[in-house]
Amino acid sequence: MPQLAITGGEPLRRAPFPSWPIVTPADEAALLEVLHSGRWFLADKVAAFEKAFASFQDAQFGVAVSNGTVALQVALEAIGLQPGDEVIVPAYTFIATASSVAMVGGIPIFADVQPGTYNLCPASVEAALTERTRAIIAVHVAGRPADLDALGDIARRHHLYLIEDSAQAHAAAWRDRKVGAIGQLGTFSFQASKNLNAGEGGFITTDDRRLAERAWSLHNCGRAPKGAWYEHPLVGGNYRLGEFQAGLLLSQLGSLEYQTARRTRNAELLTVLLGEIEGVLPLDPDPRITTHAYHLYIIRYQARGFGGLPRDRFITALQQEGIPCSSGYNPLYREAAFRTKFQDYPFVSPYFKGKPDYDQVCCPEVERICAEEAIWLTQNMLLGPEEDMGDIARAIRKIQDHAGELKS
Ligand SMILES: Cc1ncc(COP(=O)(O)O)c(C=O)c1O
Repeated sequence: MPQLAITGGEPLRRAPFPSWPIVTPADEAALLEVLHSGRWFLADKVAAFEKAFASFQDAQFGVAVSNGTVALQVALEAIGLQPGDEVIVPAYTFIATASSVAMVGGIPIFADVQPGTYNLCPASVEAALTERTRAIIAVHVAGRPADLDALGDIARRHHLYLIEDSAQAHAAAWRDRKVGAIGQLGTFSFQASKNLNAGEGGFITTDDRRLAERAWSLHNCGRAPKGAWYEHPLVGGNYRLGEFQAGLLLSQLGSLEYQTARRTRNAELLTVLLGEIEGVLPLDPDPRITTHAYHLYIIRYQARGFGGLPRDRFITALQQEGIPCSSGYNPLYREAAFRTKFQDYPFVSPYFKGKPDYDQVCCPEVERICAEEAIWLTQNMLLGPEEDMGDIARAIRKIQDHAGELKS
């Protein structure tokens, strides 16, 4: 009699996990309010959301933009990034962290991540510095803050900007302060999968008035904050967020604290349950992390705990047991996009000692994590009852107990 669902047995779980987004009557009212107001453009919702979300993230200033990718582009333009400048980014992230650098004419330089956190490794950042380095983009992967002490220290010592790509880190906090303006600039995404979302949307946070005003101008056709409508001191795109999205985000923001607490509770329970199973490690805890936002719950899979069962086969087996999961990112520098983009690049890069050549790049930790270790569970799976965590742990243990069936 087969036991595992993948070999024809019964799946451990048939019930779906909570769906996402969660829509409330307040969301409906918020959208209808904008609709019936007839004020769909440059009215009061965007400004109100900018104030509310900047304050929520402990930042003095906030600029709402159309998505997290342009938030990064505008942030990089705001610091005055020039063609040929280098920006250090982690190799384990969504493409926008690096493509935004290329989009504004700079050179993304990939650094490795720490094996226990999947976040930028400070030593790898130090090794990647050159005389053309202008900024470091730290990504808070999965909603777990990167080491802002060490990265902030490197940035200070080398007169670099530290930009926090917080697309996955709404409500995350480092040493009791929410992320986003601990570095000089932070960026957020409100794309559909994110812990705060309006389908699309983005945000820039900062405590620096000059950077805030530059970002505001760059996202609004280069206008001056107090200038006339047809007065454009800078060249800037139109990256404004719409009033409908801002209205919806204001309403959704009301649930973020509660949902974050619930994700944290379930994630911490899951960590305890997984601690009883050999071969499934969480990301390392860090007392400096006040809030891990858990955009993802990442499991570090160790095949030796499962009789050598390869990670990808384990993922298929877990999916078949009724637990949605995936392997996540690939090493970002391998994307053809970078080779193509920099083929005819007119500047040399001190890091590459010539033209940027991404075939030379190899980050061993990222290679290993992507090939054999990372397993992602999405944030919505942490929003249900505690029993859901029990199901995840039981499904993993079931595969472990029957791993022999999957050897062939
Ligand atoms: C780390 C990271 N940076 C940037 C982005 C880009 O955000 P958006 O999809 O809103 O452009 C994302 C979103 O997927 C992300 O996860």
